[in-house]
Amino acid sequence: MHEHNLGHCWRQAPHPKPNFRLMPMPNTHLIRPLVQNLHAYVPGEQPRIKGLIKLNTNENPYPPSPRVLAAVRAAVDGRLRLYPHPTAQPLREKLAKLHGCGAENILVGNGSDEVLALAVRGFVEPAPNASRLFKSARSWRAVVQYFSPSYSLYPVLADIHGAAKNALALNPDFSLPGRKELKRGRNWNFHAALTLITTPNAPSGRGYATADLEKLCQAQQGVVVLDEAYADFAAENALKLALKYPHVLVARTFSKAYSLCFQRVGYLVGHANLIAALHKIRDSYNVNGLGQIAAEATLDDLKYYRANFQKIIATRDRLARELTALGFDVLPSQANFILARPPVFPAGEWLQKLRDRKLLVRWFSTPELTDFLRITIGSPEEAAALVAAAREIAASR
Ligand SMILES: Cc1ncc(COP(=O)(O)O)c(C=O)c1O
Repeated sequence: MHEHNLGHCWRQAPHPKPNFRLMPMPNTHLIRPLVQNLHAYVPGEQPRIKGLIKLNTNENPYPPSPRVLAAVRAAVDGRLRLYPHPTAQPLREKLAKLHGCGAENILVGNGSDEVLALAVRGFVEPAPNASRLFKSARSWRAVVQYFSPSYSLYPVLADIHGAAKNALALNPDFSLPGRKELKRGRNWNFHAALTLITTPNAPSGRGYATADLEKLCQAQQGVVVLDEAYADFAAENALKLALKYPHVLVARTFSKAYSLCFQRVGYLVGHANLIAALHKIRDSYNVNGLGQIAAEATLDDLKYYRANFQKIIATRDRLARELTALGFDVLPSQANFILARPPVFPAGEWLQKLRDRKLLVRWFSTPELTDFLRITIGSPEEAAALVAAAREIAASR
């Protein structure tokens, strides 16, 4: 027992459960100022409401393949007492075969969120005076750069790390500004330590041509991560750029296209030197064992998933047509969601009116997105329920 060293320790209180409110023990000063001031990432809601149609977090409407479920079930035994493979070697070998590279070109993480966080930690200097540094000549090492809007986790990762942020607005139609426009505008940093590009873009769903991405990558001096969380629903992907350029990485996930959000498996593909650097800073067992098994079994059954991509794309295109007919302004999408400006009522009101009818979609209050709803592509039945509810709401004016 060494509690006597902790003169103010609450464990000395006579009651088994301390009442923190009654004890004058200020402790927020123990938290780093940077962390005290952080605004945490806000994930989409995960309500457990019976009968709710959940179209708010881009989950896949189809379950993992029967072979994946069988593989996970078969692994649930006494082996759970053992640590999983520390580098997810068998999974990395399968991914390497799929992408035509070596296992040394692959880093697997606890969802692609983790590999994005590792990229920030591995390639960007924390800068105590980030905004001042950003203006100085040596500033580039502390800059995390991205387009806006894109995945809203990026600024949070930069803030957690104490890095400078450079967010540049996409064109009003969410297309990428060209290299010449970026040079002319002067607000883009071609030397940024890390540039994160969501492609296809989220939350707009807009797809980007690999040729355009390549030109942008060629102009960047720092690391570029192409975040391809939704690439399986798109007309093309940019994986080849990660195998061609030593400063380009592609991030992928098993969450969206492969119905495995629950298991948290994502990965990076790129040059062995960058990948080896990130292996040094990840947790020793960063990918849970059942996640590794599920992801490996997924790669053994790609036919099942490719059929699902086609179903989701067909539902997406039909939903876009039906909502357009109801007066929605639907942006073209290359992802498993659409961004749409609803008619008659403001988007925030639509969110509530749909929720009242047990349909949950996503609304972002930021100025460039406040007029839109982001709607995940569900099953054909879920899409039909959404259209029926939308028809009713639009007529209720
Ligand atoms: C663009 C983008 N990248 C990455 C992720 C994270 O995916 P994961 O579940 O692999 O962490 C998401 C999830 O919403 C996303 O939208």
